[in-house]
Amino acid sequence: MSGPQIVLVGPMGVGKTTVGELLADRLGTAFRDTDADIVAAQGREISDIFVDEGEPYFRELEREAVRAAVQEHTGVLALGGGAILDESTRALLAPHPVVYLSMDVEEAVKRTGLNQARPLLAVNPRKQWRELMDARRQLYAEVARAVVATDDRTPEEVAQAVLDAL
Ligand code: S3P
Repeated sequence: MSGPQIVLVGPMGVGKTTVGELLADRLGTAFRDTDADIVAAQGREISDIFVDEGEPYFRELEREAVRAAVQEHTGVLALGGGAILDESTRALLAPHPVVYLSMDVEEAVKRTGLNQARPLLAVNPRKQWRELMDARRQLYAEVARAVVATDDRTPEEVAQAVLDAL
């Protein structure tokens, strides 16, 4: 079927963009990232959209950005970490080769703990990470054909594991 060759889902900071770009290089195809699409279309950063309009508004933009990208893009596609919260997005992803890049909470804190640019982690990163992972783990797994743990792997190793898994 048409649509992206690979869709990467998973939490913030797990390496969807880095791994997605490596995969696109390896496959000789294009990389697309729905966060970047939203920033380009809105002309402002995602953290500013959260502050100015609130999370529900961002999620609406995200739902449309994901729908457009899944319809239009034939290469490697990375989705924002919360895209799978939307039920219609999960249904839209069902026929596509989705891979869940996972990491455990401590790894997540280590990788993103000091990054205050991410609006969902601004207050208490460890607690917020635990809650995010508890709320989303199942949703990532639900949409994915394969899960690739990233904790002890380099981006190159993760990219290879994604190709092996599909
Ligand atoms: C979010 C993840 C971010 C971005 C926004 C919300 C989330 O994307 O869409 O800050 O809810 O997990 P990345 O996963 O690309 O960092």
